[in-house]
Amino acid sequence: MSIIHAIALTKIFPGPLGPIAALGPLDLSVAAGEFVCIVGPSGCGKSTFLRMVAGLEEATGGELRLTAPATSERPFNSMVFQGDSTFPWMTVHENVEYGLKMQGVRDKQRAAAVVEMLAVVGLSGFAEAYPYQLSGGMRQRVALARAFANDPAVLLMDEPFGALDEQNRVLLQEELLRIWERAGAATDGGKTVLFVTHSIDEALVLADRVLVMSAAPGRIVDEIRVPFARPRQVYELKRDPQFGELAYRVWQSLRKEVNQSRLAEKQR
Ligand SMILES: Nc1ncnc2c1ncn2[C@@H]1O[C@H](COP(=O)(O)OP(=O)(O)O)[C@@H](O)[C@H]1O
Ligand SMILES: [Mg+2]
Repeated sequence: MSIIHAIALTKIFPGPLGPIAALGPLDLSVAAGEFVCIVGPSGCGKSTFLRMVAGLEEATGGELRLTAPATSERPFNSMVFQGDSTFPWMTVHENVEYGLKMQGVRDKQRAAAVVEMLAVVGLSGFAEAYPYQLSGGMRQRVALARAFANDPAVLLMDEPFGALDEQNRVLLQEELLRIWERAGAATDGGKTVLFVTHSIDEALVLADRVLVMSAAPGRIVDEIRVPFARPRQVYELKRDPQFGELAYRVWQSLRKEVNQSRLAEKQR
């Protein structure tokens, strides 16, 4: 069953110098429980697409079909944004439990979820801190804990690890893999992840399938299936010779689009 299905989906923004074609026509289908990574040149419409799946932007043309798993009482999606998306007036604890509170989850269960997710992202000692007391990377981990705690059917992640240092990035990649693998056993199709990254390595470490988007307006121009067995360990994978081969293959596709994107920028 496909949970996200885009058919000739387009998005055009009005701009001061005329309309900006941000996306499409984009065709894409994501199966329930699948882990899909999207790479593409900057400005090609990756964030726009994720925001459309999250219901934060409307389509200009085409169709976006979202099919929630019938048996699930979980929320359809949670999004982790590119920048800082913590609420500055709430403590870390309150930030993480926010979605659960909205869902009407009881105090005790909420508190347990917060404790578990803060441990997952390595922030157990910071429950009562406010975002301004934390580093940027720690704030991003708070946003991750909030999304994980929500336990949505679809996790939408927009370059969530981009601002983290290498060690924390690898640890959180592995935590995300564990969370996703654990959810795979769920009866309602597991957890679907749509993950945008500028890192080819990150895409290959995480995904079942890597999609390469074209220069703006973004379309899917290539698809690379990632055959590595699971459960995966980041540095175990990276020493596999096939990893290098696949990374090269993705870069060949991406390079064309990045060059195209640079050219378009110059002509603007
Ligand atoms: N709200 C908006 N209004 C006008 N233009 C926008 C808006 N959001 C995005 N854009 C434009 O749409 C294009 C795609 O942006 P975005 O989706 O952020 O790209 P990416 O995430 O791939 O870097 C860019 O040209 C950007 O300037
Ligand atoms: Mg973006």
